[in-house]
Amino acid sequence: MSAWLSRKVSAFTIHDVDGSEAQKEAVNYIAKEFEVSTENLRTIVKQFNEDIDKGLQRHGATVAMIPSFVQGRPTGQEKGKYLALDLGGTNLRVCEVNLLGDSKVTIHQQKFVVSNELKTGEMRHLCDYIADCVDSFLTENGSDKLDSDLQLGFTFSFPVNQTAINRGTLMQWTKGFDCHGAIGKDVVIMLQDSFRRKNLNVNIAAIVNDTVGTLMANGYRDPKSHMGVILGTGTNAAYYEKMEKILKWDHGEINVPEMAVNMEWGAFDNERRVIHLTPYDNKLDRESINPRFQIYEKLISGMYLGEIARNVLLHLIDRTLLFNGLSSIDLNKQWSFETAYMSTIEADATQDLSDTQHVLESILAIPTTTLIDRQIVKKVCEFVGVRAARLSAAGLGAVLSHCNKVEEGCTIAIDGSVFEFYPNFADNMMAGLKELFGDQIENKVKFSLARDGSGLGAAVIAMMAHNAPKI
Ligand code: BGC
Repeated sequence: MSAWLSRKVSAFTIHDVDGSEAQKEAVNYIAKEFEVSTENLRTIVKQFNEDIDKGLQRHGATVAMIPSFVQGRPTGQEKGKYLALDLGGTNLRVCEVNLLGDSKVTIHQQKFVVSNELKTGEMRHLCDYIADCVDSFLTENGSDKLDSDLQLGFTFSFPVNQTAINRGTLMQWTKGFDCHGAIGKDVVIMLQDSFRRKNLNVNIAAIVNDTVGTLMANGYRDPKSHMGVILGTGTNAAYYEKMEKILKWDHGEINVPEMAVNMEWGAFDNERRVIHLTPYDNKLDRESINPRFQIYEKLISGMYLGEIARNVLLHLIDRTLLFNGLSSIDLNKQWSFETAYMSTIEADATQDLSDTQHVLESILAIPTTTLIDRQIVKKVCEFVGVRAARLSAAGLGAVLSHCNKVEEGCTIAIDGSVFEFYPNFADNMMAGLKELFGDQIENKVKFSLARDGSGLGAAVIAMMAHNAPKI
């Protein structure tokens, strides 16, 4: 028996694949590679807490901890018509949000595709495209006839160094975006310039991270909301921090006790100190457009999970432990094994794993698969998915302990396809929190799905910004 097999595999003890000894041994090895033990979780939380403190103390830290400039929390009594733009997920969304008071709201929205050419071309072209989308949305709604400027909340879900509620320079691109001429520039000024050139009467009143938007939107319904989290194409979190703890704040005195802070937690452990990276993760990182950046995000979010699983499958194929050693042109392509396929495979409860067979044979054109092959693929997805949920729990745990919310409890507003659709993700996150803080945490902390919350959040923030004294 190999040395690693004699070690205790705590998180993954069930390996109910049939198959040869070599296959079983490989599955056990992979399980061990992806394991995050309770002890690992504790180490990660400890490091996370130190990094949160560092980010609050000084500019330029790995976990950036960016103050959002949003003053106060929404009350639900806000009224008025506002626009919201959402760039940074799968699509560009333009929304018209009608705040009606009494926590009531109507939202009308339209989605637009952002092509890969736009994502990696000139920033000016991307801004012009966004302006065209806003223009066509307004024309269709008849809102273009208004005399006064429309106020817009711009959800721009990338690391932005904010210097005011409506000012911020892009620090770097993430999630496959890589436009030229944007890093170090103020993205609000660039987009406002495109609006001006197209004669759009729209004023960008606020730039908002999607996590902050999600937090605000949920606060509109549930005053116990303390954190906004995205577990989707990318991952990140925001929470309310006491002003006195934001030691690096250097924008003058303000009269609020707390402010939402955009953590930019996707960059956690870029230094590779506490999270064990497998060869499959390193391959993904090396081949990504931002190698050595956003390491935590790459192990958790929807853009990357499928690719990590694909790397594992190819490795098994090359050792003739899977699909009789045969891959397909499709499976050989980078990004071809989508995280959505993993969701289907993990949810597959058929006896012969026929949904898995469909993904592998019909979508990915693997010539034939055996039941054992399909069981192995399912296991691989489980290892990658469970690790993602446990690592997410470490981030949540760090914020909960940092803010003394373990006893007091709170609501965590979460949006994103991984949270919403990946089987057992929420349960696995909660299991991680229980290991960290004990079973009672389940009664204290509530996960609340905040679907598409950032549009509403951005509109509420635009309203607050428009009416508040400027910092
Ligand atoms: C970005 C964050 C964003 C997150 C979720 C990350 O790649 O850096 O700003 O909140 O994705 O969309």
